[in-house]
Amino acid sequence: MSTKPAFSSLKIESIHAREILDSRGFPTVEVDLVLSGGKIANARGTALVPSGASTGEGEALELRDGDKARYSGKGVLKAVSNVNEILKSALVGKTFASLEALDEAMIALDGTPNKAKLGANAVLGVSMAYLRAAAISHEMPLFEVISQVYGSEGITLPVPMMNIINGGKHADNGLAIQEFMIVPRGFSKFSEALRAGSEIFHTLKKILHDRGLSTGVGDEGGFAPAVPGANPHEEVIKLIMQAIEKAGYEAGKQVFLAFDCAASEFLAKTSTKEKTLYAFEGKDRTASEMTAIYSAWVEKYPVISIEDGLAEHDWAGWAEHTEVLGKKIQLVGDDLFVTNITFLKQGIDRKIANSILIKVNQIGTVTETFRTMQMAKAAKYTQVSSHRSGETEDSFIADLAVGTDCGQIKTGSLSRTDRIAKYNQLLRIEEKLGSRARYAGK
Ligand code: PGA
Ligand code: ZN
Repeated sequence: MSTKPAFSSLKIESIHAREILDSRGFPTVEVDLVLSGGKIANARGTALVPSGASTGEGEALELRDGDKARYSGKGVLKAVSNVNEILKSALVGKTFASLEALDEAMIALDGTPNKAKLGANAVLGVSMAYLRAAAISHEMPLFEVISQVYGSEGITLPVPMMNIINGGKHADNGLAIQEFMIVPRGFSKFSEALRAGSEIFHTLKKILHDRGLSTGVGDEGGFAPAVPGANPHEEVIKLIMQAIEKAGYEAGKQVFLAFDCAASEFLAKTSTKEKTLYAFEGKDRTASEMTAIYSAWVEKYPVISIEDGLAEHDWAGWAEHTEVLGKKIQLVGDDLFVTNITFLKQGIDRKIANSILIKVNQIGTVTETFRTMQMAKAAKYTQVSSHRSGETEDSFIADLAVGTDCGQIKTGSLSRTDRIAKYNQLLRIEEKLGSRARYAGK
């Protein structure tokens, strides 16, 4: 183990943000931050900020220009100028005792509960770029700096949750459920798990093609076929089970299934304030009925994790959902908790879910992300380091998963470089760790 990196010797020499494009071709923020005072004279850390589509209501504010003449209002020039003017003049020339001290300074400058003034996309870019520049300054891999700052007990390669069929808001194929994932948990090495994922993905492509189904991909690189029939969701599960088997792997032993339902996105029009209903496979259904559908799948198939099986405001439904399924499988809160310590605490107190999805841009600083993760860990909630549907080539979340020892990563399918960039970084880390590399799956 290396010693804790000294942040107090590092001076911020410059900060510069620019508008770039994410994986959907929409603008996002990139930040360069240069530190002096480390082993490397001028260490430049660059960070690219991701962006979601099925966003939770409680997320920190992603500042967009709203100028319809540019990028249909999605420009981020205001967030960029908040970095290049407000944050730059407040931070350049300064040293900070820790990442926390820098993040707290930015939180204070923003002064709102949800980063509404500066924009979470502005603040997060600086937070991530600072940490990366600090790692470069100390000639340490990012995951090791993260491990030291977070205070993790170990370093492990996470189990990937690979979204090989896309639906919901990430495709236009009529599937309500947003993500059908394979989880290659039963391997002794990350690289072997990744290989299984890739082989299953390509086998699935052939199966879809042979059935005359589309092999075009959705936002997260999974196939997005319009599957016919009254129960297209179970049809998808069957196709994936076939692909696992045909690729030569054992479902339920080596490879498992997981779903991100993103259920806030398929609320029925008949929903009222008192009662949330879900528009699913041609009917409006109660939370209990949805839980019964999921339970039947859990009985029949090797499902080990369901994310946002119910909507973010449906806490009454979630209580029953957790009671029925929480002892059997992982129930992940994404829109439900939005990486926010306040929502997570309420969830823990009310025994809602048993796992949390971690997305740095939902909360807007790395420090607050760490605090939420630490609370989850203390409450024995499992964690998943996650991408957004709008991603970039930045692989920060791969180092985050390893450094915090959180055990799981969700970063899409086995296509699209925005997804593969994270898997490739994990391969590099596995190689770098050599005999120290442990895979969280076994
Ligand atoms: P999002 O999707 O980035 O569009 O929110 C990912 C997820 O829901 O997990
Ligand atoms: Zn989700």
